[in-house]
Amino acid sequence: MGKSILGFSKLSKLKKIDWILETHFSNKENAKRILIQYWNSNEKLQQLHDEFIENTITNYYLPFGVAPNYLINSKLYTIPMAIEESSIIAAASNAAKFWLDRGGFKAKVISTTKVGQVHFMYHGDFDVLKTYFNFIKLQLINDAKPITKNMEQRGGGIIDIELKDKTKDIKGYYQLHAIFETLDAMGANFINSCLEQFAKTFKREAQHFDAFSSEEKDIQIIMSILSNYVPDCLVRAEVSCKVEELNEDTNISPEEFAAKFIQAVSIAEVEPYRAVTHNKGIMNGVDAVVLATGNDFRAVEAGVHAYASRNGKYRSLTHARVEDGVFTFWIEIPLALGTVGGLTNLHPLVKLALEMLGNPNAKKLMQIVAVAGLAQNFAALRSLITTGIQQGHMKMHLMNILNQLEAKNTEKNTLVEHFKTNVVTHNAVVEALDDLRLTIDD
Ligand code: MEV
Repeated sequence: MGKSILGFSKLSKLKKIDWILETHFSNKENAKRILIQYWNSNEKLQQLHDEFIENTITNYYLPFGVAPNYLINSKLYTIPMAIEESSIIAAASNAAKFWLDRGGFKAKVISTTKVGQVHFMYHGDFDVLKTYFNFIKLQLINDAKPITKNMEQRGGGIIDIELKDKTKDIKGYYQLHAIFETLDAMGANFINSCLEQFAKTFKREAQHFDAFSSEEKDIQIIMSILSNYVPDCLVRAEVSCKVEELNEDTNISPEEFAAKFIQAVSIAEVEPYRAVTHNKGIMNGVDAVVLATGNDFRAVEAGVHAYASRNGKYRSLTHARVEDGVFTFWIEIPLALGTVGGLTNLHPLVKLALEMLGNPNAKKLMQIVAVAGLAQNFAALRSLITTGIQQGHMKMHLMNILNQLEAKNTEKNTLVEHFKTNVVTHNAVVEALDDLRLTIDD
């Protein structure tokens, strides 16, 4: 049974750890050793990490890997990926190599605007509210100038504000629905600051708007917040080649490969149970790059899945066709990403990841991330319709099992060789390791 504590955040890091050990662990020494072994010996770096969040007690490592050979719009990239799932980087690298020999990836940004909303309640005549909105709209924009000035100088800012009547959904519910261009910033702080200013002005000036009755003046602001649904911050990535070029390393003909591949995609276009897994595979690639480049993967996830169900049914984000003997496979995906602000200037590994990508602007990063998603989906479907997914997965998982069993390096080498021609299962690895140890003991 746990216990509660007041003022935990005020304790020093060591005192916090002491409390946690005391409250939750029987083997305190072991728990403390595990927590402390992840501290960075560079105190400045550790302090930086401590201060990212509240109540930091240690660091949580994810592997940071790279997938080379990504030819995107005729330029070669090595893509940094932070991810724990064993097969993802291998899949990313294989797909990159496959398409490198077939013209690479083409990507283009379709749109870049984002939305934020002030949600409010008003109980009065809609026409009077509309008149007030049209009267106050310019002042909403002007009062936000101190926030928008810099962004405007760089070519971004507030694109428009609309008044939306949502009373069909909730009695008295309206919105200021604002559209923003935030350029290379993800823009969450910028958008939220603008919205909070709109809300202040909107409520304050209502007091002085003569056409309102005293009841109508009483506009109640519920909340002001950006939307992570970004269907107009959209990027498209694509690969294509002649069908006969699809024949490498598979146990089926190029024509059969193309036909099965297109069927697999169309299944994900009509069947939500499959579509969720299909899109999860895409997000394996997307999230890994989003994380490595210091972006908000929860925002991306939420926005992407909402987009996948925009027509009322959850569907595949990728599509495929054969036309005139040419196989084309593409993705359209909403991605609100930043390459300035947030973690991008703060986290040394994020800075390094961005430098590895040639310090892209947000539009370039959108293209790279969309490509990583498309490539990951290509690799997954390629395995699924040929060898099945487990062959590759279990090969990659082998190292995790060996580590779990505390195999020595020499044992690992022998068993990796052994499992090149044998099926990997947890039991099979346990038995093979036991046998190996017995033969060595003999
Ligand atoms: C596993 O992380 C992802 C896959 O399930 C994706 C898919 O089925 O397309 C392999």
